[in-house]
Amino acid sequence: MTTPLSSLAEFDALSANKQMDDNANYQWRVAARPVGNVKPTDFMWTQNDIPVPGKGEVLLKTHYLGLAPVMRFYMQGTGAAGEKVLEPGDIIHGRGVAQVIQSRHPDWREGEMVQGQMGWQTYKVSKMTAQEKFYRMPPNGLPAALGSGVLGMTGLSAHAGFFTCGDPQQGDRMILSGAAGGVGSMVSQLAANVSGCDVIGMAGGPEKCAFILEHGCSHAIDYKSENIAARLDELQPDGIDLYFDNVGGETLEACLERLRLHSRIVLCGSISEYTRDEPFKLSNYTRLRATESRMQGFFVYNHLDRWKLVMDDLAGWIHEGKLKPVQDIEQGFQHMPRALANLYYGQNVGVQCCSVRGEPENWI
Ligand SMILES: NC(=O)c1ccc[n+]([C@@H]2O[C@H](COP(=O)([O-])OP(=O)(O)OC[C@H]3O[C@@H](n4cnc5c(N)ncnc54)[C@H](OP(=O)(O)O)[C@@H]3O)[C@@H](O)[C@H]2O)c1
Repeated sequence: MTTPLSSLAEFDALSANKQMDDNANYQWRVAARPVGNVKPTDFMWTQNDIPVPGKGEVLLKTHYLGLAPVMRFYMQGTGAAGEKVLEPGDIIHGRGVAQVIQSRHPDWREGEMVQGQMGWQTYKVSKMTAQEKFYRMPPNGLPAALGSGVLGMTGLSAHAGFFTCGDPQQGDRMILSGAAGGVGSMVSQLAANVSGCDVIGMAGGPEKCAFILEHGCSHAIDYKSENIAARLDELQPDGIDLYFDNVGGETLEACLERLRLHSRIVLCGSISEYTRDEPFKLSNYTRLRATESRMQGFFVYNHLDRWKLVMDDLAGWIHEGKLKPVQDIEQGFQHMPRALANLYYGQNVGVQCCSVRGEPENWI
């Protein structure tokens, strides 16, 4: 059993009457802990004065915010990884791109762009503590928007999950689920264009399947209309070396069944299970023993110490044309709940983000 979704039109109605300008600070807060999937009544809109930075603080102005499936868990009071556990009334956690517009902090200059824990709000005063994990965004000829996704936590997840856990080898026969999503659309390109793997991607619907064929995948499986097991047998009759799992459930089971000797499975996410009343009961994990294979999870927050190295890698591959950044940008902060819902409806192609006020005019 899965929990039904509210209609997307209800999310659009939620944002319809929200007026905004630059002279106030707006927030989205937890109104109620989501039961199953998010619904519009789980979100609360508030407006305050723009906060004033004290000594040792900066005022940050939000430009972009990134969205991730885990945010529903944040709203439920779990999954916040070292962040405060959210209670009803709290500003929803979310990392994004912001500009320092006033600084009373010795280490941060006005005009600098940063990537970090902004929360769902349009301004924030911060002491820039280690816990908020702010990273300076050096101008690198790429749009600031990428800091909310491809050059943000999504990029770190793709890099850490694929290279660190996947241990890819040239010529690997690889399967990738969630291939048209944020992490997936990056992993497909890293696998094909950096590591030389042969990637079969899975995505929902013909448009997304066409998209993944242009972003690193040699073949596409439309998991919504095709039989996954039959297609895997047809496309990789000798089995697979590497499976990057974004969805869990029956797809993970089908890939376990087809492992070759010394294969690897990367447990990135299990979005197909997130709203099930009971977790999927995996029955064939012993295939790991029979094939001397490895199944390894990772948690992106445990890889933050490699932030700069990873971002330099990713920016370099973008400049070389090996990684085409794909971000699906919802326009306007008032649409944040809809942007989050998009993920559970399969509406996004690439990394789901929200533009709060677009690109900065100046960036030092
Ligand atoms: N381990 C970590 O540290 C870490 C870090 C980041 C993300 N993650 C996880 O990695 C996965 C991908 O994250 P992301 O941010 O890039 O999100 P994403 O893949 O962009 O997530 C949204 C996509 O998931 C697919 N989806 C939604 N419901 C589904 C279902 N019931 N069954 C199968 N697919 C479904 C949809 O694509 P289709 O239209 O193709 O169905 C949708 O567009 C998520 O599971 C996320 O929780 C883990």
